This record gives sequence, C-alpha cells and structure tokens, in this order.
Amino acid sequence: MTKVGICGTTLVWLLAAGASCAEVDTAAIAARDQGGNWLSYGHDYTEQRYSPLDQIDQDSVGKLGLAWYLDLPGMHSLNSTPLVVDGVIYFSGSWSVVTAVDARSGKLRWQHDPKTLEHVGDNGRILWDFNRGIAYWQGKVYVGTGDGRLLALDAQTGEELWSTLTLDRSTPRTINGAPRVFNGLVLIGHGGADLGPVRGYVTAYDAETGEQRWRFYTVPGNPAEGFENEAMQMAAKTWTGQWWQYGGGGTVWNSMTYDPELNRIYLGTGNGAPWNRKIRSPDGGDNLFLCSIVALDADTGAYLWHYQTSPGETWDFNSAMDIVLADLDIDGRKRKVLMHAPKNGFFYVIDRMDGKLLSAEKFGKVTWAERVDLATGRPVEADTARYLDGETLIWPGPLGAHNWHPMSYNPITGLVYLPYQELPGYYNDKGINARSWRSVNFVPSLGVSGFEQDIPAQSGWSALIGWDPVAQREMWKVKTPGLWNAGTLTTAGKLVFQGRTDGRLLAYAADSGEALWRYDTGVGISAPPITYAVDGRQYVALLAGWGGAAAALGGSIADQHGWQYGVHPRRLLVFALGGAATLPPAPAPIRPAPIDEPLLALDPERVRSGQVIFSAHCSVCHGSGGAGGGYAPDVRASAVAANSDTLAETVHAGRPQLGMPAFPELARDDLEALYQFIRQAARRESAARAGGR
Ligand code: HEC
Repeated sequence: MTKVGICGTTLVWLLAAGASCAEVDTAAIAARDQGGNWLSYGHDYTEQRYSPLDQIDQDSVGKLGLAWYLDLPGMHSLNSTPLVVDGVIYFSGSWSVVTAVDARSGKLRWQHDPKTLEHVGDNGRILWDFNRGIAYWQGKVYVGTGDGRLLALDAQTGEELWSTLTLDRSTPRTINGAPRVFNGLVLIGHGGADLGPVRGYVTAYDAETGEQRWRFYTVPGNPAEGFENEAMQMAAKTWTGQWWQYGGGGTVWNSMTYDPELNRIYLGTGNGAPWNRKIRSPDGGDNLFLCSIVALDADTGAYLWHYQTSPGETWDFNSAMDIVLADLDIDGRKRKVLMHAPKNGFFYVIDRMDGKLLSAEKFGKVTWAERVDLATGRPVEADTARYLDGETLIWPGPLGAHNWHPMSYNPITGLVYLPYQELPGYYNDKGINARSWRSVNFVPSLGVSGFEQDIPAQSGWSALIGWDPVAQREMWKVKTPGLWNAGTLTTAGKLVFQGRTDGRLLAYAADSGEALWRYDTGVGISAPPITYAVDGRQYVALLAGWGGAAAALGGSIADQHGWQYGVHPRRLLVFALGGAATLPPAPAPIRPAPIDEPLLALDPERVRSGQVIFSAHCSVCHGSGGAGGGYAPDVRASAVAANSDTLAETVHAGRPQLGMPAFPELARDDLEALYQFIRQAARRESAARAGGR
C-alpha cells in the first residue's frame, strides 16, 4: 500500500505528475514481496536477489523481448544494481552519477552528477569510475562517491539534500560500494587497502541529517593511542610488529548485510594492507578482523561475533563478497544461517545467531587449503600456500574464485546461483625486504610483485554454478566466457538471469541450468540484472556496460573480449514478454592493432624500468603489462603513446576531466622509460598476433 510519507510537501507536484510517494522504511525493505518494487541492493535485506514475480517463467521466457532502452552517453563502467520504487528506476553509473527513469516508458526523470572528478584530488590516480549501487529510504536516494562523500538526494527531483565526507582524501580510500539503510541509519564503508596504508572502517549516519552516529574500525590502530573498544583490544592480540604503520587493511568495500530479525549488521571485510603478512605482522598472527564476517549491533555498532575465513591472510583473499541470509533445514532443524562464498573458494554456511560454522566446502579448484576443520573452524592450509621460499602458485588467486558479482538464492529450488571463476595466483616476494619495505600512498602497495606482467587470455575460465547449500555440493554448472561474468538474479518463475563478458544476457532454468533464452546487448556486461512489475507487467532490467577492476587491470584476459574504451554504447535495457523494441546496430568487438615500429631499437634496461613505473602508476587503469582491457584506451594501440613527446605531454598534464590523472612529477628519464616499455608491449602483442593468437 502506498502512503504519503515524508515527501508530503511535494504532494501537489507529485499528483500532477501522476507519481506516488512510497513509505520505504525498514519494514518495507524487509518484505519479501515488495509489490513489484526492488527496494534494496539485494532486493530485500536477505540479499537473496530473489523476486517472487513469476509472469516470466520457464514456459513464457521464450517470448521475452526488449521493451525499451535508454542510451547512457558518457558512461563507461556500469556495475550497478538498479532500484525500483513505485514506477521509477534509480541507478548509479560511472563517477557515481545517479539517474531516475520512468519504469514504464524509459523516459529520463532526472540525473544528478556529483562531479566526482572535481573533488577527487590525488585519489584520481587510483579512481575507477564504477559504482555498485545506491540505497533508498523515505523519499531519499543515497549514493557513495568515488572521492568519498555520502550523498542524500531527493528522490523526486534529484536535488542534493545533504552531503558528508566519510574519509580523509589524503589517504587512498575510495567508495564504490552500495550504502545500506535501516532504522533511519545509512551505513557506508570504503575500499583502498591495496593502494597504501589504509585502516578499514564503516560509518553509520543519520538518514535524515547526515550526522555521524557510529563508526566501527575493522582492524586495530596504534596501541599507544588507545583502542576504541574491547573488540579492538582483542583483535590487537592477533597482530605482531608495528602493523599500524601499514594501515592493516580489512576494508568493507562491498558487503554489508542487515538482519531485521536480529537487528544486526554483518560486515564482509577485505584483505590485509599490504597483502604480504610477513611485512605487516612479521611474527605471524591471525590478524583480526581481516577476511572475516563481523556481526555488529545495528543500533550502536558494538561488536557481537566474528568468523574469519582466511586467518593470517597473505593472498588478497577478501571476504568482502556478498553475505546472503536464509532459513535452511539442516540436520532436521531450521537454522537461521548466512551464506558466503569469498575469494578463497570455500562456500560457508554459518549460524547467524552465534557465528558458529555449520559447513564449508570447496566450490571450485582450491589448492591453498585442503579443507576447513569444522571443529576449529579453521582452514587446513597446504604446506606450499604461503610463499615460504619467496614464491608459490596456488588456486585461487587475487581475483578470487568468486568476486563481488553477487550470487542469488532461490528458496523454491533451494539453490544458490554463483558466478565462479578459476585463475591461479602467483605470489612472489623475492627481493622484497620486509624491514625496509614501506607502503606508498596511491600506488599498488602489496608487498609482493604484482601487476607487472600481463595475464594471458587462456590462464583462466569461468562458470555459473547451481549450488546446494545444505548438501554443500554443485547441482549443475554451465561454462561462461572468459572471466568476470556478472552477478545473478533468480525468480519465482524458476529462472536465473546472468549477463556475461561476451555481451549476452541469458535466462536459465533454475533447477537444471538449461539455457532457455539469450539476448545480445552489444557490450560486455558487468552488472547484475533485476526484475520489477508495474501495472501488472513484469520487467527485467539490466545496465549493459563493460567495466570494473578486471577490465581496468586484467590485461589480456579482459582484452580478449574486444570491448574498447569509448566505442561500445552503454545502456539501460528493459525486457518484458512480447517486447518488440530493437537496438541500433552495434559496433562489433574490436582489438585495435598495436603500433609497432620494427626499426625502433629498444633498450632492455629502460624497458624494465618503464615496466616498474607503468605497474606503479598506469596499470590500475591501462591494464597489467600494458594490455588494456577496455576500461581506458589500449596504450599499445594509441597514436598518442607512440610518440614520445605527445606521451610525455599527456602523462604530465593528464586529462583530469576525463579520468586520466596528471603525473607532473615524472622526470624526462621516467617518461622515456615508459615510452620504451609501451613500445615493447606493443611489439610483443604484434608478434603474438602475427603468430596466430
Ligand atoms: C585512474 C585511471 C588512469 C591512470 C592511473 C592512468 N590513466 Fe591514462 N587514461 C585514462 C583514461 C580514462 C584515458 C582516456 C581519457 C579520454 O577519454 O581521453 C586515458 C588516456 C591516456 C592516454 C591517451 C590515449 C589516447 O590515445 O588518447 C595515454 C597515452 C595514457 N592515458 C597513458 C597513461 C600512462 C602512461 C599512465 C601512467 C603514468 C596513465 N595513463 C595512467 C585513465 C588512466
């Protein structure tokens, strides 16, 4: 039922516009049946991404067609989950721009540009343009910006109601995750623990005013300054050396689940800063609360319990992947559980009353640990997992067996639909002296070698898995193209929807995994689809647009798909049964030819030093090893980079309004080294293609 709530003042205008103003509060977001709306990042607070709509089902899905689309000029990465509130679609796009669109017609209502690049400062050097989502509460839309603000917008007009800075911009913290709202509080975290000395935290703000209510740090700070609470005192006992100088990490950059039944928050925490434990905690230790699920009281932010998935993490094994709530029958008992499939490759089912581990099984290739011991709750690590003599090769690697792309859970089939990827990690800290190593702000600060080499296209593969969380086993699996396929949606029509790196959106039978329908969007898909209903008609909506971390630094494994910067259109696509709209012809995937001048002599010394500079300053956007994955121009094929003068000018001045930062401090020699490295990368790619790759 729709009531006139907080936005009564604009009632006259609203009635004139034929709109309504929903009372969206904790009870509304908690409801499993939202009357056709999609009110929160994961549909409702369970984060199941399950919709009770069933007009589109296994029988009718063959008639699904494009109802309408909206072009999104100027957008690049699109990773976001749209929300739908009473006939309006709201979503965040590149640079945290928020758009509101009429859900029936596709007509643009408003767009709010928070001018992220004007606020960003040095953070622009590590800033990806993507944003995973927004929150809605009582007529307001909330978005976190890449430069660290949390904004409240008027849902009717897009006007900014308040803005608060959630972080210190002189640190490499950045926001790309969705806020969550409950009980009049908005909760937001941040990322950045790969890019300097960062100590993770989440902050709760008053949803009406933006005033800070509470903050919870996920790792302990300097003991000399006193601990904020007993949880930090307890956590500090699991760290050694002078960890606080390195920040520690544990950022909450993605996953926060509110539990309305228990009035709790579950945080999914990230990797250590730096990744290498030998540096940040030289005498070992579990390093709480890295790579953990941490339960907090939602009113006060007080610590309740934690479960750590990768104790003493040293591989970038984030537990920042989604945390999904469900009631499952386990051993004849109904248990309130949470389900979690972090990077490390184990699927965890945990009793959310007390944090006790109920089961954990591998959902793919995992060699870093043999199993998880249910008695202790700890992984039984393989002897070779830690890079004891300076290097190791294990599965999975830093991109994870599952990343942020959300899984979904269908209570009818009892299955979880999980985007799986298989890629090993090569960890090497040879030549890195733990005593002299220092974190540097705004450059990859890992404590292991990284991002210098390209990631070959054939080094990994991926699948969509239908997983039974009670039996803890795979019920079906279908192969998906490349790596970094998008998150899933499941419905009461017993369907699963997933977009893929090759630009196709597919619908599968949720019980068998049989592909029932597909649509070619003309651009790689990184965002999860949603579904909603207006006027009795069910729709499926998707933001089509390649982007995110793998596109930025994935190298050839991303480049293979041929989604080039600025070439392939970004859109909001909306499907319905009988939809008959068509897209204009799309440019085919292309991989522009690298520019090689065979007679140009390259000096191996300079190429090597250029590689180091490139991996420190450029690869986060232009791709590992210089192999652009489509987030930014492919420098190997760039005429600007093929001329040492224009390269130097571009790097010195940047293109700050377009997301290319300025590097005025790079000296003539550095620029020459960069030039030579890029030419070498182009030469190598040119030879590889001539060799038939
Ligand atoms: C934070 C992301 C980011 C970083 C870091 C970055 N770039 Fe860029 N770069 C971009 C984007 C985005 C563009 C495209 C801007 C536009 O639309 O013109 C670009 C454009 C360029 C271009 C022009 C390409 C062309 O043909 O128009 C060159 C050359 C370039 N970058 C080189 C570099 C080098 C060298 C570094 C490291 C010193 C670097 N960039 C660091 C994002 C980045």
